[in-house]
Amino acid sequence: MEKDIEKILVSESEIKEICQRLGRQISKDYEGKKLLLVSVLKGAVVFMGDLMREITIPCTIDFMAVSSYKNSTQSSGAVSFKKDLDINPEGYDILIVEDILDSGLSLKSITEVLKCRGAKSLKICAFLDKPENRQTEITADYVGTQVPNEFVVGYGLDYAEKYRNLPYVGVLKPQVYQK
Ligand code: IMP
Ligand code: MG
Repeated sequence: MEKDIEKILVSESEIKEICQRLGRQISKDYEGKKLLLVSVLKGAVVFMGDLMREITIPCTIDFMAVSSYKNSTQSSGAVSFKKDLDINPEGYDILIVEDILDSGLSLKSITEVLKCRGAKSLKICAFLDKPENRQTEITADYVGTQVPNEFVVGYGLDYAEKYRNLPYVGVLKPQVYQK
């Protein structure tokens, strides 16, 4: 796996610091609220696991699955829903936990669906933000760090379902996906 990585963008120690900072802030902001963390499968599971352990207030977790990338490095624009929430989010303060905010098309669809569910509030926490590639007006309320407009893998993010288990975020060598 390592040989396919051109450079490391977010190291393991930086990831740890980011999760601690976001966890501290979220714990403060959601004190006394009914926090529901909604993670978007599969990319955000690794971040969800780290972030939830840095949150010191009670919270509930749930998962949704959508797909917008079809084994390529470009968003297709179309989003299909594969799995809905198990929990009825009515009355909860939802915080969507995402791996990356790229074109923004998937998060746009997810927030539109969740907005009609009677939640008290709805915010977004994205581990990575790639603002240069945005195709719709959407911003995250909490951002781990910004990345340039390059295809990244690791820490949950995949290319053709591989590299999710890399413990850091790296840029894939272009020859890997130009094959
Ligand atoms: P969107 O383009 O903001 O809709 O991003 C949708 C999804 O595409 C993200 O949740 C990721 O799973 C995936 N994605 C976007 N950019 C990258 C990337 O650079 N590497 C790997 N996956 C990505
Ligand atoms: Mg994702």
